[in-house]
Amino acid sequence: MSAGGTDVDEPIEVPRADPSRISEMIDAVAEIGGDPVGGISRLAYTPEERKTHSLVSGWLRDLGLEVWEDPVGNTLAKRAGADPSLPAIAFGSHLDSVPHGGRFDGIAGVVGMAELMRLLAEAEAETIHPILGVAFASEEGARFGEPCIGSKFVAGSLKEADLTRIRDAGGMALGEAMASAGLSPIRLAEARWTTRDVALFLELHVEQGGILEAEGRQIGLVDVVSGSTRIRLVLRGRANHSGATPMSARTDAFVGAAELAVAVEKLTSDPSFRGLRATVGRVDIWPNSMTTIPGRVTMTVDIRDTDSDRQRGAAAQVVERARWICERRGLALASAVIADTSPTVLAMWVRERLKQACESLRLTYRFMTSGASHDSQVVSRLVPAGMVFVPSKGGLSHVPDEWSSATDIARGVDVLFASLLDFDRFLLEVESRSDARPAG
Ligand code: HGY
Ligand code: MN
Ligand code: MN
Repeated sequence: MSAGGTDVDEPIEVPRADPSRISEMIDAVAEIGGDPVGGISRLAYTPEERKTHSLVSGWLRDLGLEVWEDPVGNTLAKRAGADPSLPAIAFGSHLDSVPHGGRFDGIAGVVGMAELMRLLAEAEAETIHPILGVAFASEEGARFGEPCIGSKFVAGSLKEADLTRIRDAGGMALGEAMASAGLSPIRLAEARWTTRDVALFLELHVEQGGILEAEGRQIGLVDVVSGSTRIRLVLRGRANHSGATPMSARTDAFVGAAELAVAVEKLTSDPSFRGLRATVGRVDIWPNSMTTIPGRVTMTVDIRDTDSDRQRGAAAQVVERARWICERRGLALASAVIADTSPTVLAMWVRERLKQACESLRLTYRFMTSGASHDSQVVSRLVPAGMVFVPSKGGLSHVPDEWSSATDIARGVDVLFASLLDFDRFLLEVESRSDARPAG
């Protein structure tokens, strides 16, 4: 198998994605979950998220595809291939957002998948493999802490016990939230994919960083996806009157949390943690009143790295520092790792063929790391996966100002289309050789 095979030297003539259609679809999705203070809030397993799945299902049904929702809320759309016994080539991303997030994170990949399905239909393209469009549920960890919930059920990384273990900040269990969204989590086994169902997964996503824009490149091909370890810390002191309590008689939980937040930032400047990103993104103070000394603080630390030892070593150091600060301040500490996803190297042979598609379309590209986590890194535990990035304006993401041009997104779709035809043929060659399958 020639991982970097040259059998696509000739430019592949494929119908080109339509930026105006892409723009319309993005605007239609953004209509759902827009919040009054700006941005999009479409959290996991909320009515807003489910409404976008219904909207996209309608588009895919209108294209004549077989569309269904699995028991954990992923939306799937299958386009028949010449040989139904073959595993599908799958494309997609996610539709949920962070609070006050942007209109493109995840959406670009789902809208891109819908546009790709339209192009295949209009071109009456015949593929040998079935083609599977996917909109994953609950990729963002913003509500439950755990990222990529929909794809983790698909890959078998989450089990029934997680339906009660995983809870949101209000204490609602994941399974309860799914059931209240009209889903049937108890049938989670039906959501599982096997290598008989899917052969390959490709995700188009906005870069969420500023490298492509800064270098003036059109496409990013991801080689490594960062992992994330997420910790929840509860610091308990004593609430008391802010005026009547002398400074020497306080155990102020917030000051302890503030010292810890500075210590977390300081850790990232330690040479042994070069490249690490650590963020205290959420702080809940109790009783959160101007005239009462904070008695309790619950805070989260999101630790990201492309190196798993550094990532988990940093997580352990954060808890160590929290212990030291609390001891010195007479605070009680409870800590828990609420989610842990490994960094992932995506299959090189997939990236090489995506590279050839970029070259055949005369698009500028570069290989790059993803600082964000993605469904692809989870699905790649089961089947080879590839990611195609398009530029993010100003490198902004998870904020209302997140923006990518419909033209750039359309170019990403063109890369997926060009590579699809190539993968369809390439996989057949591999599958026909005694069921060998390219290594990851
Ligand atoms: O948080 C992330 O890394 C991604 O945007 N879900
Ligand atoms: Mn995303
Ligand atoms: Mn995100």
